[in-house]
Amino acid sequence: MSAVPDVTLNNGVRIPQLGFGTFQIPPEQTREATLAALETGYRHIDTAQMYGNEKEVGQAVRDSGLDRADVFVTSKLDNGAHAYDDALRAFDGTMDALDLGHLDLFLIHWPLPGRGDFTETWKAMEEIYRSGRAKAVGVSNFQPPHLRRLLESAQVVPAVNQIEVHPYLTQDAVRAFGAEHEIATEAWSPIAQGKVLGDPVIAAVAERVGRSTAQVTLRWHLQRGDIVFPKSVTRERVEENFALFDFALTEGDMAEISALNRDERTGLDPDHFNG
Ligand SMILES: NC(=O)c1ccc[n+]([C@@H]2O[C@H](COP(=O)([O-])OP(=O)(O)OC[C@H]3O[C@@H](n4cnc5c(N)ncnc54)[C@H](OP(=O)(O)O)[C@@H]3O)[C@@H](O)[C@H]2O)c1
Repeated sequence: MSAVPDVTLNNGVRIPQLGFGTFQIPPEQTREATLAALETGYRHIDTAQMYGNEKEVGQAVRDSGLDRADVFVTSKLDNGAHAYDDALRAFDGTMDALDLGHLDLFLIHWPLPGRGDFTETWKAMEEIYRSGRAKAVGVSNFQPPHLRRLLESAQVVPAVNQIEVHPYLTQDAVRAFGAEHEIATEAWSPIAQGKVLGDPVIAAVAERVGRSTAQVTLRWHLQRGDIVFPKSVTRERVEENFALFDFALTEGDMAEISALNRDERTGLDPDHFNG
């Protein structure tokens, strides 16, 4: 039984607030890892063209025996496919690889601000959305100036912005911009790929609530309202990361963890990464 709440996106589509990430899971391990997540109760899987494991994610969803409608699947556009026609073709590739009938959410993976024109790419995303083959479209790694520029010409407001967020990078400005424009925030690398798990402040909260530092960190995200999808190929951790709905952090705990912010990225800087 799953107690994972849904978040309702700006077009009415519902997404489970907790999902399973597949970045850096090699294709040969992806079917098994994704099946372990689905067996645990996860109903939301995050993949991308650049992860090279869409085919195996699709296989796992089909082999799970679950109804297609009960699993939310996200993928993201390859950085090499920003031209309008390339984006449409790349989306066809995702649909073939996943082989799931429809996609729930398709994102522009990176804005690549110095390279192309993501507003043109967005036109392809809108076309994909109108076709009904993706139930929602959004962006990833967009900073407020990128979003502002996109919104000047967009006919469809992105449903989500998937950005790096964790206690060392709380992303207050980007999240506030999203909230103001009904763009839901998805937090990638929610435990900073493990870097926050030894933090003494998080450890003290974990001790108080009798949970692991990973669980406390993930619970912090959920209570902030963001959507998260921790990645693990270790079954016990997959289960641990799912057991977040029978405890709560106090306002004081939340504030202490938020105060750890030091604007420290584990991943690339979207203002300077151009593919
Ligand atoms: N849009 C983007 O540009 C972007 C960028 C990065 C990530 N993402 C998405 O966000 C997802 C999550 O981010 P991420 O994979 O970078 O990092 P993450 O989920 O913050 O951390 C994953 C790492 O933490 C370990 N881990 C997981 N649960 C643990 C636990 N309970 N205790 C101790 N260690 C634990 C995993 O190890 P094991 O696997 O060895 O167990 C793995 O090394 C990705 O998989 C991907 O779907 C998106």
